[in-house]
Amino acid sequence: MKETRPSEYKRAKKACENLRSRWRTDPQLAIVLGSGLSEVTGYLTNRHAVPYRTIPYFPRPTVPGHAGTLHWGLWRGTRVVILEGRAHLYEGYAPADVVLPVRALALAGVQFFVLTCAAGGVSRQASPGSLMIFSDHMNLQGTNPLVALHDPRWKERFVDLTQAYEPQLRRAACKAATELGLKTFEGIYAALLGPNYETPAEIRALKGLGADAVGMSTVPEVIALRELGASVLAIATITNRAAGLSKRPLSHADVLAAGRAASRDLARLLDAILPKVANLSLRLAEGTEQQPAT
Ligand code: HPA
Repeated sequence: MKETRPSEYKRAKKACENLRSRWRTDPQLAIVLGSGLSEVTGYLTNRHAVPYRTIPYFPRPTVPGHAGTLHWGLWRGTRVVILEGRAHLYEGYAPADVVLPVRALALAGVQFFVLTCAAGGVSRQASPGSLMIFSDHMNLQGTNPLVALHDPRWKERFVDLTQAYEPQLRRAACKAATELGLKTFEGIYAALLGPNYETPAEIRALKGLGADAVGMSTVPEVIALRELGASVLAIATITNRAAGLSKRPLSHADVLAAGRAASRDLARLLDAILPKVANLSLRLAEGTEQQPAT
């Protein structure tokens, strides 16, 4: 008999229940780490770590620099879960597989997500070593995790992305970055499918469209999380000038090395904004703050 694949909702729910059987209290904040950004896990105390392969339906990253480990613990008193490594569309994963880990966490009640990634710099301000706080994105991946027969257990099919990135978190991140003296700017992320880097002609076109940075990830997770009403902050470490904007050919090894170099700045920024996120989540729980951008 033909085996039927469980619905995406059931798969995410099963992963969620598995995680809930492991930790005592659900985390308040999730962080997804992009290429070479693993240093951030060192900030957790009372840390527990499990490989993705032990969690039902979690995709296994196949790319160097993406460990495939889920950590949870405390960061400045906030219960934090970190996804160290993500699956990408260009690895051949279906959009629903790419977003399964963040959906599972959202189903476990995590309301705040900080998504990070490496990106190529397109606009002048996006110089290597700087951090870009997403103000908006362009989904140029040709696919979308919400493409499916609609399952009403997810919330909304026609998701509003007018404010995909939570304004209060963006403001907090910009302020903290300025205080720390980090080179940071707000900008628009163009997501392409990859896995090849772009051509110089594509980068010129993206520049004309208004993109500040280009990458191959993050946007599927943002879309899936906004469907569930979670609040999102996304930060890219600019690891290189995009194709045609420097003489150097692009390589994953260079991107990883630059990502690692930026990892410290990213960790410092997260450390500075965590109390603000915790505060915001408290105010939301008490109902003294308007529900953010749902
Ligand atoms: N293009 C796409 N993705 C990337 C780049 C780039 O130049 N750098 C890091 N991730």
